[in-house]
Amino acid sequence: MKINHHFDNLVPNYLFADVARKTNEFAAAHPEKEIIRLGIGDVTLPLAPIVVDAMKKGCEDLKYKETFRGYPEYEGYDFVREAIAGYYKSFGVTVHADEIFVSDGAKSDCGNLPDIFAQDNTVLVTDPVYPVYVDANIMAGRRIIYASSNRDNHFLAMPDESIKADIIYLCSPNNPTGAAYSAKQLKAWVAYALKNNAVILYDAAYEAFIADDSPRSIFAIDGARECAIELCSLSKTAGFTGTRCGYTVIPKELNRDGHSLHALWYRRQATKFNGVSWPVQCAAAAVFSDEGLRQIQANLDYYKQNAAIISAALDELGVYYTGGNNSPYIWLECPGDMGSWQFFDYLLQNAAVVGTPGEGFGKNGKGYFRLTSFGSYEKTTEAIERIKALFI
Ligand code: MLT
Repeated sequence: MKINHHFDNLVPNYLFADVARKTNEFAAAHPEKEIIRLGIGDVTLPLAPIVVDAMKKGCEDLKYKETFRGYPEYEGYDFVREAIAGYYKSFGVTVHADEIFVSDGAKSDCGNLPDIFAQDNTVLVTDPVYPVYVDANIMAGRRIIYASSNRDNHFLAMPDESIKADIIYLCSPNNPTGAAYSAKQLKAWVAYALKNNAVILYDAAYEAFIADDSPRSIFAIDGARECAIELCSLSKTAGFTGTRCGYTVIPKELNRDGHSLHALWYRRQATKFNGVSWPVQCAAAAVFSDEGLRQIQANLDYYKQNAAIISAALDELGVYYTGGNNSPYIWLECPGDMGSWQFFDYLLQNAAVVGTPGEGFGKNGKGYFRLTSFGSYEKTTEAIERIKALFI
């Protein structure tokens, strides 16, 4: 037998596993140090009370014959899909409930969606990039090309008409750079995708952090329904990193190669995915209730305040950065011309603060570093004091 030799083309470790390993080694060697982790974008605030109540009620339902649920619908229960469609409506975007697939998170969907596309399609990602888009397509043996996000374009790569791509991953607000596309920029990507018969896989996992008039959804752009699939997640919006729930929207009119992509994804999910559990879907629906949205907003505001604290310190230090205003991520230039892994080690050794080296997100991440605002207020302010003490 042979293994899938495309795995030989992957970098040896998943970025966040590498960061965790190095951090754990440091912790073992320095038990006296209080490490502050602003690396992986994992939330620290608990789930909103209304969400936990709904989940408990969902568990109670499983206790009785009359209310017990077995296999859920492959695409999610209607009341959850209706709630998500209502959420889109609240920011002026029309998405129909029957176009929504409830999932166990955007990470799985962004890695699995290419199952419906041929292996010889060319995949375009921006550089720097969330490593899952790259690794999932390397595993499938696809060719990957990169659109450069850099300081000159404010880390918002734009399409190059001379290059032909078939599958395009966009993430806005971006992981890792925190930069968000404007409507005008997204229009250019939609026009490019339509012209090239390509499909945009649009990762909107951080849309709830948008504070300006940047679009919250690719479907705010005319023509996107004919060329885009949108993925979203409750991980960052509502603290579901451990609970796991997300959703993917595939417009019914999105066809390629004589096939409905909605129908293909339904076929794929029915074969390989058995849906999201009843208690979790009850919890997800509660997120989108009026009270749920009010409660999660308090958490989002808390993280935004942390982002503002980090941004203010970088302003004070005169360090170049993107993100922070529309995003929980702050993407900064490493001080003193340090490489990103060099800065990671420096910060860990001298301040016991963990971030994510930009280089792990692609070659354009060299010399950059990502901090997250998902820590506690106390730890974030403490980390910033320690960083300032090193550089002032
Ligand atoms: C990140 O830190 O980039 C994210 O938490 C990773 C993820 O969402 O999988």
